[in-house]
Amino acid sequence: MNNALTIEKLSVSYDNKEALKDISLKIPEHRITAVIGPSGCGKSTFLKCLNGQIMEENARVSGKVTLSGTDISKLKPSDLRRKVGLVFQTPAPFPMSIYKNMTYAPRYYGINDREELKRTVTEKLKLTGLYDEVKDELKKSAVKLSGGQKQRLCIARALTVDPEVLLLDEPCSALDIKSTSVIEELLLRLKETYTIVIVTHNLGQAARISDMTAFINDGRLVEFGETGSIFKAPEMEETKDFITGSFG
Ligand SMILES: Nc1ncnc2c1ncn2[C@@H]1O[C@H](COP(=O)(O)OP(=O)(O)OP(=O)(O)O)[C@@H](O)[C@H]1O
Ligand SMILES: [Mg+2]
Repeated sequence: MNNALTIEKLSVSYDNKEALKDISLKIPEHRITAVIGPSGCGKSTFLKCLNGQIMEENARVSGKVTLSGTDISKLKPSDLRRKVGLVFQTPAPFPMSIYKNMTYAPRYYGINDREELKRTVTEKLKLTGLYDEVKDELKKSAVKLSGGQKQRLCIARALTVDPEVLLLDEPCSALDIKSTSVIEELLLRLKETYTIVIVTHNLGQAARISDMTAFINDGRLVEFGETGSIFKAPEMEETKDFITGSFG
């Protein structure tokens, strides 16, 4: 199996506080990798390192992240963002029409052909299961969609530039159970095309949908492995305590 991302000795400090300490792991292609750990352990910081967003924060970063063989520090930030999309916890469509949300990034990257834009909009909305729900309302404001629809739109929007990797930071924590299960099914479909890294507080969700799980505690990668093993037979006592709910 190929690796989409290779992370080597990644450390991050904000001011004088170390947020990530010497993290090394390989994220396999076309799999869902879940990142779990208590609040403040460094999960969001880890994701920000994978799409370069960490460079916009007042942070000291060392180590190396490689995307399909290329050191990401050698990529232009806009190229890196195109290859590695990020979806946030609170679904925040741009305050414009559904259609414009979907064409915003392709236009930014220079695609102006109307037919091509239309095709992209249709294809990605279909991929996220949103097309039938919104096809007659593409000109309406995206802000009017339900929470679950907004999050699917944000995922569809991230896919409009055909990234290799899709990062999601707690994408379901503001959603109800039904919308959450729609997103989970969607992610299982999307891994055929994309590599997915999802930060989640919901251990049940990590167990249900991910292939690999990384457990971070206090900025350290405590354990990384196949999700089945991490949940059923963790090697580290610390992982076991977290999974059984003793802390976090
Ligand atoms: N921009 C920043 N400036 C200073 N410190 C920060 C910054 N961002 C995060 N931190 C600190 O770094 C540590 C890791 O934060 P991070 O947001 O990565 O954790 P997290 O695991 O995503 O937490 P949560 O589960 O609450 O979202 C925390 O101690 C946090 O306070
Ligand atoms: Mg976070």
